[in-house]
Amino acid sequence: MGHKTSSPIEKFSSRLAFVMAAVGAAVGLGNVWKFPYMAGENGGAAFVMVYLLGLVVISAPIFVAEVVIGRRGAASPPEALSKQAVEHGRSRHWRIPGLFGLVAALLVMSFYSVVAGWTLDYMVSGASGQFTNLDAAGAESQFATLQASVPRLLFWQGGFILMSLAIVALGVRAGIERAVTIMTPALGLLLIALVVYALIEGAMAEAVTYLFAPDFSKLTPKMVMAALGQAFFTLSVGIGGVMMFGAYLPNNTSIFQASLLVIAADTAVALLAGLAIFPIVFANGLDPSGGPGLLFVTLPIAFAGMPFGGLLGTLFFFFLLLAALTSAISLYEPTAAWFSERGMGRMTGTLVAGIASWLLGLLTVFSFNIWADFHPLAFIPGFEDKTFFTLITTGIDTLVLPIGALLIAWFAGRVLSRQAVLDELGVKDGPLFKLWLFAIRRVTPVVVLALLVVNLV
Ligand code: TRP
Repeated sequence: MGHKTSSPIEKFSSRLAFVMAAVGAAVGLGNVWKFPYMAGENGGAAFVMVYLLGLVVISAPIFVAEVVIGRRGAASPPEALSKQAVEHGRSRHWRIPGLFGLVAALLVMSFYSVVAGWTLDYMVSGASGQFTNLDAAGAESQFATLQASVPRLLFWQGGFILMSLAIVALGVRAGIERAVTIMTPALGLLLIALVVYALIEGAMAEAVTYLFAPDFSKLTPKMVMAALGQAFFTLSVGIGGVMMFGAYLPNNTSIFQASLLVIAADTAVALLAGLAIFPIVFANGLDPSGGPGLLFVTLPIAFAGMPFGGLLGTLFFFFLLLAALTSAISLYEPTAAWFSERGMGRMTGTLVAGIASWLLGLLTVFSFNIWADFHPLAFIPGFEDKTFFTLITTGIDTLVLPIGALLIAWFAGRVLSRQAVLDELGVKDGPLFKLWLFAIRRVTPVVVLALLVVNLV
């Protein structure tokens, strides 16, 4: 193939570095903030089951597919796709889904940056002693106060975007590698501490039942789609973000093994977050379907109740901030790389991405205050109560990522030749490969298309 020797792309120094960077991209607000509140809004265990199933059967194979496409292409998603399509006698217009991916990443970043801003705000509140003597009502009003303050939200959102841009502008190695190796284990340890606290002080039994004993009457096409969407979101698949990491992965590294490590770490963090949050929810009579504020209302109560809570709370939100930063990097990186390939400069690309996501983020900021009662698509049945924030997040989960996943599955399973994929994976045409190919060629298209159709009509 000889497609890499003269690659302009800077590679990771080792497999560990790749795994940690990919873990950094995968683990983020999606695990700690989004997964629990989505599970809560969708009735708990049934959602969790579908999420786990979707993760293994659909999202993980797509993750592998993205790494394959990215490493073979050794370029930004639009270039990686069009280059390999042409090489296989297909249209160079495969670039177009890649370009949509860049835009979609900025849309994800629009709400991601706002929620990361809440994290920053909480880190500071924790440090200034606001997690002491806090009860459920206090925690709720603390969150409501933040949501009511547009300047405060804008300030932290802007701060988060500036931090992410600074890291992206510095390039891959310098920024990512070191931070993540410390950050993820630290976040995991603090989550374990919270689970232990929840075991002692919270309603753990109730939480475990809620999260793991499914009530299958809760299974609806909409819920299944939401759970699958979360399975895509949490692994960062569907819009080419993982391709970018693939592009930086050294050629001799096993993609299957590296992917397995990433997926295991990601799932562990999400489940730990659920086990930390729901016991607090039930012990304090809070509503599990309380929505996007769930994490920010429950954890401060836990910190208020534990020794050194102020310090631990501050540390927790600090590590969550780092986790969000390493995910944000993966959302900006494709645009930065694409601009740089076109000779328009990495800096310019990063800046354009930052400004676009900041502006789009205003829609999320206002969804929690001045536009809380503005429902832009209210004229469509089923959308009567959806704010911009809800429309953007559900649009990403249930439309953008599934369609992106379909295209990626198509590309890896039907555009790239079997041999090309085998070479890239570095495996034999054995059972593992056949299973993966079956997931990519059959399972993903059938399930995702069926869900899209059922949910749209
Ligand atoms: N997976 C990250 C999280 O769970 C978010 C994320 C990063 C993402 N890059 C992405 C989601 C690309 C979708 C697509 O926090």
